[in-house]
Amino acid sequence: MTSWEEFYACHLPPSDFEDNRQLLKQFCENHLKNKNQNIVLITSGGTIAPLEHNTVRFVDNFSAGNRGSASAEFFLDRGYAVIFLFRTKSLEPFTRHFSGQQFLDMLEINDREHTENPSINVKPDSVDILLPILRKYKEAQESNRLLYINFTSVSDYLWLLRAACEALASFEKRALLFLAAAVSDFYVPQDDMPKHKIQSSGAPKISLQLVPKILKPLVGNWVPQAFVVSFKLETDDSLLIAKSRESLMKYNHKLVIANILQTRRNRVVFVTPTSSEEIILTKEQALSGLEIEEPIVCEIIKRHEEFQATVAQ
Ligand code: PMT
Repeated sequence: MTSWEEFYACHLPPSDFEDNRQLLKQFCENHLKNKNQNIVLITSGGTIAPLEHNTVRFVDNFSAGNRGSASAEFFLDRGYAVIFLFRTKSLEPFTRHFSGQQFLDMLEINDREHTENPSINVKPDSVDILLPILRKYKEAQESNRLLYINFTSVSDYLWLLRAACEALASFEKRALLFLAAAVSDFYVPQDDMPKHKIQSSGAPKISLQLVPKILKPLVGNWVPQAFVVSFKLETDDSLLIAKSRESLMKYNHKLVIANILQTRRNRVVFVTPTSSEEIILTKEQALSGLEIEEPIVCEIIKRHEEFQATVAQ
């Protein structure tokens, strides 16, 4: 058995796995009928590696889910069907625009005349903010082009990722994978994990193992004809391009989008085996409300179209 096969053999699927697998299957079958429909799987947010079966403590991976949730909106704008595989409670498309109490502050209670039957209105000065977002959200819902599936642990994520790939395989070159989730590289195998909360009576000895790199079976076996884009997060700029190329060589996929933790919102590099091209968001662009995900998605779609055209020849 390979290390990834062993991982699946030793880790049970999440309890709602079968429901999610059916949702993925139905969503893909619906869109497969339309021969012009492109589809993207977006992974977003960080996975956790639990330290206890009854989990109180865990090792988390950094990602707010901004990249994935913003990109989902831009893919929907461009006509793609979107499977949004995201970490529970990380940012989601559309609702990401309203943090915390911001949304409630846009509403007012109207109970002056109808105390029996009060209603809720959007404040007039909030309509311009809410309306375009609500329109796009409704359009995505009504056209059934957005499926939300959520995960928390790295093991849940890997089970759902494989199920999503199985559902996507028939799309062949029409499928695009946008792997922006920050996936745990280290974890405690289930057999080595204590059942209950680790007691604080002494310093615990925690031995983390390597999570198998799932890009290997994903590119090689699960969706070999799809256009796969992975992300590379580093904190040391001098490693960024070399590590991205190393990943392309190892897994043989199409594109790595490289970013540095602190500058990820305004600079990314598109790395292929032979080229590296930057996308930079200027201060003026950021101030005008442009998000870097818009040019990122635009460039990926261009490359996906080129890829489809070459494969078709
Ligand atoms: O969500 P935000 O706050 O907006 O931040 C966005 C981001 C910085 C998280 C995003 O742009 C990003 O860089 N995501 C990838 C982060 C990451 O986990 O990089 P990595 O070097 O650990 O993994 C590289 C690739 O290998 C990833 O595409 C991942 O899908 C894949 N991987 C990782 C671990 C693993 N066991 N198997 C894998 O296949």
